[in-house]
Amino acid sequence: MRIGVVGAGHVGLVSAAAFARWGHQVVAMDSDPAKIATLRSGASWFYEPGLQELLDETTAEGALTFSNDAADAVAGAEVVFVCVGTPPLPGGGPNLSFVEAVGRAVVAHATGDLVLVEKSTVPANTGRRLEQVIGRERQRLAIPHDIAVASNPEFLREGAAVGDTLHPDRVVYGTSSEPARDVLRAVYARLVAEDGCPVVETDVPTAELIKHASNAFLATRISFINAVAQVCERVGADVAIVAEGMGHDERIGHRFLQAGLGYGGSCFPKDVDAFAHLARQVGYEFGMLDEVRDVNRSQREAVITKLEAELWHLDQKVITLLGAAFKPGTDDLREAPAVHLAHRLREVGAIVRLYDPVALPNLAVEQPDLQGVEDLDEALHGAHAAVVCTEWDEIRAITPHRYLATLAYPIVVDGRNVHDPDEMIDAGIRYHSIGRRSVETSL
Ligand code: UGA
Repeated sequence: MRIGVVGAGHVGLVSAAAFARWGHQVVAMDSDPAKIATLRSGASWFYEPGLQELLDETTAEGALTFSNDAADAVAGAEVVFVCVGTPPLPGGGPNLSFVEAVGRAVVAHATGDLVLVEKSTVPANTGRRLEQVIGRERQRLAIPHDIAVASNPEFLREGAAVGDTLHPDRVVYGTSSEPARDVLRAVYARLVAEDGCPVVETDVPTAELIKHASNAFLATRISFINAVAQVCERVGADVAIVAEGMGHDERIGHRFLQAGLGYGGSCFPKDVDAFAHLARQVGYEFGMLDEVRDVNRSQREAVITKLEAELWHLDQKVITLLGAAFKPGTDDLREAPAVHLAHRLREVGAIVRLYDPVALPNLAVEQPDLQGVEDLDEALHGAHAAVVCTEWDEIRAITPHRYLATLAYPIVVDGRNVHDPDEMIDAGIRYHSIGRRSVETSL
């Protein structure tokens, strides 16, 4: 099939490369000339394991090409995927103006019947809005082609995006148009034949809701275990063992029960808010989601409380944050707990250093007022305390000896529970973690 992908970000670029791998002819379009120039030079503009190889393979075959012009992605295409950003608005809902703009561009550039597929995460009802825009634009421009709307949410994780796309847990698509359903079956035919993943075929609002409900549920699991961690700290229990004990119940499972600084990234924070916002708009107060968000925020405040318990006040105290990316395996800093914490610490007067094995170039561009330090020992040297924010292997591997040899005071707040509390405390570290054994603080 001839496929257009509009938006060459984490979802769009990885999806475009996967479509090309499955035998389709794909044009990926992005309005940012710098990104397209980088892609045309043969490199990805962001770090994602395995993506470079997939791009090398699919571009060499000519199955995947790039353009700055929406017309190149739409003209001649049988299906166009909308993969543009839906950034949060101040009121909690997502900004859907980019999605709408793609709807209009598709009508303007279509050269035949096509299916417009939402892949960006959007609230239920967006499909209906798109149909309305397309209908109006077709009438205004007297376009004869049939343009059907479908929803095909993406469930890839950053850092594991290529594997998640090539071997998904499921494929979900929704549309009320039979021809559009056939087009989507054809898009995923090779994947389903080779990988055998389950397919959920449904209508547009149900597909849209599956995405928001999935992300909100995963975020709820994380906030749930973080709330349990708060109770564990107060009764002397160990949240990691509580989670392990819970996870053996097959109905619960082990994944996404890792207590810590909470969730960040471009998806969970935005999607929890957007889902609560949508529910409110349609007359349901989904208060549980407000609580999920509040627990997530309070996990970062809890670190400040632990630091203050050790250091009295934080004015002019040097605090090293270990890890800046919102999780390991990515250089993405969007809604990263470390970045949030860095700003909060600076508000209370601390001098903050950030170390990250991958994300510092991004930090320099996106958070130029925060100080990144490229060498781990240099970042630790002379600091009054270290806080583990991202569980990179290199950070997991820091020994008590290394902390003792570098920090001014041996204070470590382990926001991702990567170290062994007994080993740290026995070695003389003033060690605090989230919901597990920590040193006593008597002041
Ligand atoms: C998430 C979902 O996992 C994907 O299925 C979805 O497609 C994607 O959002 C999206 O909507 O595009 P992602 O944001 O890449 O993927 O990252 P996750 O691996 O889900 O982690 C999100 C955050 O939760 C990270 O900050 C991570 O550190 C945190 N987390 C995760 C925890 O604090 N505890 C856990 O047990 C798991």
